[in-house]
Amino acid sequence: MAMSKLIQITDLHLGETPQSVLAGIRPLDSLKAVLNAINDFGRGDDLLLLSGDLSGTSSAESYTMLNQLLQDYGKQAVWLPGNHDNVELMKKHLVSYPPCPVSELGNWGILTLDSSQAGTPVGHIRDEELRLVDDRLNQLAGKPILVTMHHCPIALGCQWLDKQRVNNPDGLYDLLASHDDVKLVVTGHVHQQFDGLWRNLPLYTTPSSCIQFKQHSSDFAISDQSPGYRWFDLGDNGVVKTGVEFVANFDQYPDTDNAGY
Ligand SMILES: [Fe+2]
Repeated sequence: MAMSKLIQITDLHLGETPQSVLAGIRPLDSLKAVLNAINDFGRGDDLLLLSGDLSGTSSAESYTMLNQLLQDYGKQAVWLPGNHDNVELMKKHLVSYPPCPVSELGNWGILTLDSSQAGTPVGHIRDEELRLVDDRLNQLAGKPILVTMHHCPIALGCQWLDKQRVNNPDGLYDLLASHDDVKLVVTGHVHQQFDGLWRNLPLYTTPSSCIQFKQHSSDFAISDQSPGYRWFDLGDNGVVKTGVEFVANFDQYPDTDNAGY
């Protein structure tokens, strides 16, 4: 069975300089460690899906740095914005990676959504975005489709994070569920792995390329897990295989006493 191969890297939280630190880790170093781990895993040629919070500081410098790093590694990538991003600066400074709300990967379609809103970490699907999703699903009709956005649409059992999930998921769910071609939904933001269901739709969330949040924690808490990423094997028949990998032997350690990010 022919398949398409995709790697998700999420919540990169790059700062303004290579030395910028987030809770004890330099996000540029951890991103490089993830890219190296992907090469070692034999998946260095896969398309990258960067599912939001590419910057932790909404800074032009972070996007310029990312663009250069991805070019240095010879990567192809699609991206979408998260709550820490500035989409106008992304468009301006990710010069080698123009926005691509709809893309094709082999037999598959990939549809990216913007679930971010200015001034809050809470996810929301704007009416205009929902209309665009409908158009784009129709544009990809006949292909199996992966839908991806930054925010998770369901509660995962982390009370503080669950408050930030998409606050109006039902309209999007109804639209996606009405298209048989939609095979899975992939998100970031939660800095942890989840493999499950959003009602009847397969849903996957993925650890960050820098720090991870502690699972099942009522208050903000960072776990001691290392940087990670997710791989997807997307079968031409619509069947999906996926898994999460963590970087082994990363030599920087998260500050698990950190009270916020
Ligand atoms: Fe986020």
